[in-house]
Amino acid sequence: MTIDDYLLSHIDDEGDQLARLYRDAHVRLLRPRMLSGHLQGRILKMMVRIHQPKRILEIGTYTAYATLCLAEALPENGEIHTIEKDDEMEDFIREQIELSGFQDKIRVHIGDALDVIPQLDGLFDMVFIDADKRLYSEYYDLIFDKVCPGGVILADNTLWSGKVVEEIHPGDKQTLGILHFNEKIKHDTRVEKVILPLRDGLTVIYKLTSPPSK
Ligand SMILES: C[S@@+](CC[C@H](N)C(=O)[O-])C[C@H]1O[C@@H](n2cnc3c(N)ncnc32)[C@H](O)[C@@H]1O
Repeated sequence: MTIDDYLLSHIDDEGDQLARLYRDAHVRLLRPRMLSGHLQGRILKMMVRIHQPKRILEIGTYTAYATLCLAEALPENGEIHTIEKDDEMEDFIREQIELSGFQDKIRVHIGDALDVIPQLDGLFDMVFIDADKRLYSEYYDLIFDKVCPGGVILADNTLWSGKVVEEIHPGDKQTLGILHFNEKIKHDTRVEKVILPLRDGLTVIYKLTSPPSK
């Protein structure tokens, strides 16, 4: 038994629907590795349990795997807005949301997050950034004022398979995007931050309730 097997056998199950979604994604989709999966899915759900957000924004839906994990712990009156640029994923996403029974909690936006975010009203208590690695800084700037003080921003893949400490190929825009984002967060005094060395790196960012003293 590997440590990963041990770990997965000692945490909550992902449940039948997510296990089926995971299998379907591997049969029907080209890049199933992009979905959060069992461990990260349970962590996202636990974050919602602990932080108790009422409104969540997810940037990058893909199969809705993470969306459904977040929805599991969301209170009855809570809502998740999730944005996906690839319109070919829409049928898969809507099918999974219907099957989950969480359709009343989830609003799917098909479009580019850079266009959709400015159109979203209201504040979010939690944001999960998990879309184009080249644009993490842009997403962050767009959502920052839409996150309530005391809100949490999660950013996935911030260790980018260890490429953040390797020599960078100048054409590798994704690694450059992640490096730029990590530097930006490091120096942002409006937030507290920690990178969890989970899977591909998950940065947890807490928006301070009062502005930093100069
Ligand atoms: C890593 S996957 C998301 C995985 C999902 N959050 C999960 O944890 O299961 C990234 C998704 O972001 C989408 N995406 C990329 N750029 C985007 C953008 N600018 N706006 C919205 N979605 C985008 C991609 O099409 C892809 O489906």
